[in-house]
Amino acid sequence: EAQHFAALRGTIVYFIDDPFLVGKEKAFVCHEDGLLIAADGIIKAVGPYVKIKSQLPVGVEIEHYEGHIISAGFIDSHVHYVQTGMIGSYGEQLIDWLNNYTFIEEQKLKDPAAAREMSSVFCDELLRNGTTTAFTFAAVYPHTVDALLEETERRNMRMIAGKIMMDRNAPAALLDDAQSSYEDSKELIQKWNGRGRQQYAITPRFAPTSTPAQLEAASALWREYPEVHVHSHVSENLDELAWVKELFPEHASYLDVYDHYNLVGRRSLYAHGVHLNEAEMRTLHEREAAIAHCPTSNNFLGSGHFPLREAKRLDRPVHVGLGTDIGAGTSFSMLATMNEAYKVAQLRSYSLQAVNSFFLATLGGARSLDIDDKVGTLAPGHEADIVVLNPRATKIMDVRMQRVSSIEDVLFVLGTMGDDRSVKATYIAGKKTYGA
Ligand code: GUN
Ligand code: ZN
Repeated sequence: EAQHFAALRGTIVYFIDDPFLVGKEKAFVCHEDGLLIAADGIIKAVGPYVKIKSQLPVGVEIEHYEGHIISAGFIDSHVHYVQTGMIGSYGEQLIDWLNNYTFIEEQKLKDPAAAREMSSVFCDELLRNGTTTAFTFAAVYPHTVDALLEETERRNMRMIAGKIMMDRNAPAALLDDAQSSYEDSKELIQKWNGRGRQQYAITPRFAPTSTPAQLEAASALWREYPEVHVHSHVSENLDELAWVKELFPEHASYLDVYDHYNLVGRRSLYAHGVHLNEAEMRTLHEREAAIAHCPTSNNFLGSGHFPLREAKRLDRPVHVGLGTDIGAGTSFSMLATMNEAYKVAQLRSYSLQAVNSFFLATLGGARSLDIDDKVGTLAPGHEADIVVLNPRATKIMDVRMQRVSSIEDVLFVLGTMGDDRSVKATYIAGKKTYGA
């Protein structure tokens, strides 16, 4: 069978290492006039146009994105696809927001048709925003995982999802139990993990909605399937912290609850971590676990300001990805999320560089999820999931762009003013799936 080629020319940017740790010079690659060639969904060559063009197979047409930025597709490291319909629900902080909006919304997904409809809307929205992989909660119902992963399988998107495990402190219609959550999750792992580009995450919602028996079940499941992910929340809101202390008085900290059940390790990712203490940061570092920084959500729910500088401290760095946390987050756009991350950092007297923001949204997410051998960068051998960005998407961006003098400036304009309007095209495994 004939190979499928894609060739993209423009300003190509990607990461080969973590700029927080090794500095921009060693981590960041930029080809101002670059060419990328992919064959059958895998990147084969990337570099300066003048150097790479000779490798272009005859007859393959180049898509020339002049004045555009070509980046690895964005990775949304924490999102709830089932909460897509409830973005912008007014007026509450975490616990009330869960009880008054979230637990109502998630019950609507009990209808498999509603789950399929939401999966389609969600994937369209990811692609419109240049997000090619997401690490997502489903709802408690196993069919909500099937609905999403059937949709992403059809679209050939790399997706990691899991059924919520939740056996207390939520409405009865949303509860499973330790045994059924174990069995249902196991069945979903066997069905989906590693099928095409679909992967599975064991997903206890957060410590307050799981009994010790359920956390033990999650732990047992991860022992059986160490190759899958673990996905939960930690240390988002101060009332939540106090509640965890009440429910688990014998544990030293919030993270320690998960750690007690051996749920903190490589391929485990916890959303938020806004109020983590030094011992918890150290544990995350030692276990090679990850945090998803979700600034639009943290600001929307008034949760607090994530200590990014502390998380990336050179003597004990923690893996950090960037997440939208829809429906508490307020935008699907990872560019809008970078904008908020910059401001949150400012409030902690830390200046987040544009290059570092782009790292968090691409290779940082991929490393956090242990999928950096597959996605998150444009180095040859990786899957050709790509976003093409227009830094002049609006009149005012165009005016601003007349004043830039470096690639860092361009990326900062994108990460401050950019949103879905700046997404010119999105490629999934070398095929354009969004954009003209
Ligand atoms: N903690 C437990 N569940 C949730 C959720 O659905 N959203 C957020 N932001 N935090 C949570
Ligand atoms: Zn969340």
